[in-house]
Amino acid sequence: MSDGADVVRIPLFAIRPAIAALIPEVAERQRAVLESGAYVLGPELAEFERDFAAYIGRRHCIGVANGTEAITIALRAHDIGPGDEVVVPALSFVASAEGVVNAGAAPVFADVDPTTDCMAAATAEPLITDRTRAILPVHLFGNVAPMEELNALAESRDLLVLEDAAQAVGATYRGRHAGALGGAATFSFYPGKSLGAVGDGGAVLTDDDEVAAKVRRLRDHGASGRWMHTEVGYTSRLDDLQAAALRVFLPRLDAWIGARRRVAEAYEAAGLGDVVRLPSATPGADPAFHLYVIRTPNRDDLAARLAEIGIETRAYYTTPLHRQPSMSPWANGGARPSAERLAAEGLAIPMGQSLEPDDVEHVVDAIAAAIRGARGDEGSSPVQGRDLRTAPRRR
Ligand SMILES: Cc1ncc(COP(=O)(O)O)c(C=O)c1O
Repeated sequence: MSDGADVVRIPLFAIRPAIAALIPEVAERQRAVLESGAYVLGPELAEFERDFAAYIGRRHCIGVANGTEAITIALRAHDIGPGDEVVVPALSFVASAEGVVNAGAAPVFADVDPTTDCMAAATAEPLITDRTRAILPVHLFGNVAPMEELNALAESRDLLVLEDAAQAVGATYRGRHAGALGGAATFSFYPGKSLGAVGDGGAVLTDDDEVAAKVRRLRDHGASGRWMHTEVGYTSRLDDLQAAALRVFLPRLDAWIGARRRVAEAYEAAGLGDVVRLPSATPGADPAFHLYVIRTPNRDDLAARLAEIGIETRAYYTTPLHRQPSMSPWANGGARPSAERLAAEGLAIPMGQSLEPDDVEHVVDAIAAAIRGARGDEGSSPVQGRDLRTAPRRR
């Protein structure tokens, strides 16, 4: 990954070579769809829904237009809407809360756990009221929320657990896939997700036949037959061209997740944990590392220093949901210190199935050098014997 000036460039999402290698196969399958003329609710979508349900370990997968509408439709399919409250983590992509608002319900923002970055029973429970109908854990960055305690809490209060698994395809918890751990689950296939389409896409997963039937109606104008509409729904179908691409990528997913896990291991083995805080998995979880988010004070400084030498990073969700202008009607004054801290200190560094061992070492060396340089102790102890003063590597 070097540019014309021969400076190494390491992208945040190191996925392009893996995707590019499959373009001919995607094109061939999409061409078959184009020739069939079945572009919406056709057989390619039905095949993908079967395959993805089997992969996750759920009875039903219903493909929808995106991961945000998946949340809205899943909540509405459980008759959750106006007057109801849904507990969501205060640190996530805004869509987790938008999906709730678009269903007519009120999001209530729980702090995240300072170790796992996910909502926990201890942070959700104090927010449960007579109006609460669901809790919506987000498997943030590809880790898995502590589902055992969240399911126990939900059961004791008769609540739905809707997993927002948009970032956790391929992650497991106590041997089962994220998306098969709560009452129902939603996914996004936005490009860049570990299972990304070539445009927008999403899905709802459930074991409940009635909920599945209602999701199928809601995604298609509430239609229960030709010209018969039992509820007001949406135009929210995953289209067959996207399904065709996803069917090419799905059989590769486990290998890609395995490669991501090896990158995470390599970051640790190279000594990254000596200079910044590393992400920590929820006990029982095997994360999928959609993003690899480290934490350090002076995160913005570090990002700027890495950018100078061609290493792309990104601070995610720097404004927590309870402070988003669009969420002001649902914000209350309570403190969410762990969400605030993650928003201030988190930095996603390069991750992906196409990241090479050399790239990992280069990133770790550069982070160590930047942090020690900022502290003014350049030249002191190398990370596992490597010289931290090494200039950006050239190939
Ligand atoms: C945690 C989370 N929830 C929901 C979504 C919404 O998905 P989409 O962009 O497909 O609407 C995303 C991602 O984009 C996400 O990261």
